[in-house]
Amino acid sequence: MTEAWRPDEDDRPRLAASGPVKVRVPAKINLHLGVGPARDDGYHELSTVYHAISLYDELTARRGDTLTLTMEGEGAGELALDESNLVIRAARALAHHTGMPAHARLHLRKQIPLSAGLAGGSADAAAALVACDALWGTGLSRDDLAAIAADLGSDVPFLVYGGTALGTGRGEAVSPVLARPNTWHWVVAIADGGLSTPDVYRELDRLRSTGEVPRLPTHSTNPLLGGADRLLAALRQRDPAVLGAALDNELQPAALSLRPSLAGVLKAGHAAGALTGLVSGSGPTCVFLAPDSRRAKEIADDLTVAGVCRVAYTAHGPVAGARVA
Ligand code: C5P
Repeated sequence: MTEAWRPDEDDRPRLAASGPVKVRVPAKINLHLGVGPARDDGYHELSTVYHAISLYDELTARRGDTLTLTMEGEGAGELALDESNLVIRAARALAHHTGMPAHARLHLRKQIPLSAGLAGGSADAAAALVACDALWGTGLSRDDLAAIAADLGSDVPFLVYGGTALGTGRGEAVSPVLARPNTWHWVVAIADGGLSTPDVYRELDRLRSTGEVPRLPTHSTNPLLGGADRLLAALRQRDPAVLGAALDNELQPAALSLRPSLAGVLKAGHAAGALTGLVSGSGPTCVFLAPDSRRAKEIADDLTVAGVCRVAYTAHGPVAGARVA
């Protein structure tokens, strides 16, 4: 039986660490993802319910004379480790904000796949902020770290906090959802190859412009907020069948349009006994809600045997965001 996650006390060290600092950071899924029109800055207005699940990357920070990054696991050899990497950009942003020299040797152990709709890159950026804050003893609050995180990517602030949270704006404005603790059981079906997030948003705009998915209402009240309210009400009932019926992702038709084979993954998850399945964020990962941990394991095994995904993990949520291990 997994323990229900509770918001923890902030236990980060306030003095610079002499030894290595290891930070664990979860993947995110979206229990609800409502997408508004494209804004002038190219982003879309969102109303989303983020949920952190127990699929983790790990970042270790050690003292160094320069800033370097090495990595192993998912995406090793594919991901540039230079100044374009979100981990390096996060460490530089923290150094800039605090006036510290950006000196650290960072090593990333990745389990969250790249371009999967699980915010793996954003998770690593959140981990870098928390790790360097501990290594340098800069002692920033989570709110301070989240403010720096917002410039690095829309999902990064959420991964500083974790848990379950409402995201608005382009996703960077995060309000924790305070509910009685409950643990939900998930199956995470990882696809071969990723999907580009900008491509998926563009495809949704196209499908809306042609009327292949409903066009956005033009009235002035915010049409985005209703869906998130329904999801939050379902969460409070603590019944997997009720939550399953409320899960919703408006990016899903766009991900399915770009990757039609995902329909087969969703069908296989339903056939295996999942309460509901949906595309995670911009995809191509599909996530399934299971009634309990035993059923989650069976569904993951069935999906693997059916050969519809590269790998299927079980996970639970909510879990904490980037934390010193
Ligand atoms: O914020 P982030 O850099 O993770 O976003 C990646 C891309 O996803 C953006 O460049 C944009 O194309 C798309 N996006 C969007 N609206 C959002 C969040 C992301 O269009 N709210």
